[in-house]
Amino acid sequence: MKHAAPITSDQLKDWNQRHASRPALDIVQLAARWFAPELALASSFGAEDLVLMHLALQLDVRPEIFVLDTGRLPPETYDLIERWRIRYDLSLRFYYPDPAALEPFVTRHGPNAFYESAARRKECCHIRKVEPLQRALAGKKAWLTGLRREQSPVRSTVALFALDEAERLKISPLISWSRQDVWAYIKAHNLPYNPLHDRGYASIGCAPCTRAIEPHEEERAGRWWWEDQSHKECGLHSPAKREDQHAPASL
Ligand code: ADX
Ligand code: SF4
Repeated sequence: MKHAAPITSDQLKDWNQRHASRPALDIVQLAARWFAPELALASSFGAEDLVLMHLALQLDVRPEIFVLDTGRLPPETYDLIERWRIRYDLSLRFYYPDPAALEPFVTRHGPNAFYESAARRKECCHIRKVEPLQRALAGKKAWLTGLRREQSPVRSTVALFALDEAERLKISPLISWSRQDVWAYIKAHNLPYNPLHDRGYASIGCAPCTRAIEPHEEERAGRWWWEDQSHKECGLHSPAKREDQHAPASL
């Protein structure tokens, strides 16, 4: 059955209640049945996204998998992308920052402007990730992400089904998974993963904005580690949006 837009708050509430305890594969399947080919899967090739991609590969009709290539990803991430492309004959779409925005930004503030201030960092994230995300999602009705509630306090209320700023359905089938669950899946299916994880990197984004964490630190402590720890988001995922709210928040 195809789902017809628009999605109401009541529908979201109902879906979240009805599908909350279903296995992730069921959710990915349901999403594909309702929305493919207007369904996308956002993959940074982080641990969660490997699980999501592996689940999606089991479907007859698959979501379009896209990568936001910021131009500053670690070499290990590019190598991993290549390994997946070869092993799974994976077809991926890549989105790049708009040179008309990036070139003046770097010319004016230098290549490492993100260390200057939180505002500058967010500007960089906007140019390299958020604006390309908007292009990646153009024409799509729904998208899949690897968000988990355990990842941070800000993410602790993420819903399985939510609406993003553009009122597009955002589906996060792994919300209830623990980090151990993710790694058990990766090991059980022998999925190629980023070797940085074995060097203490729990969450991996752009190279200059990611470091390894100590065992006692929270999962996202290595992302933008020089900033206030309470707001570690790049703008791809709004903490404000809830499944029962219909007012737009920032993407
Ligand atoms: S981020 O917002 O801080 O970068 P995080 O790295 O935790 O997010 O990833 C959360 C989810 O956002 C991923 O599971 C994936 O769905 C999406 N995502 C993050 N970065 C990218 C990227 N570079 N390309 C595609 N999707 C991404
Ligand atoms: Fe720029 Fe760092 Fe954000 Fe990557 S994570 S887009 S390098 S500020």
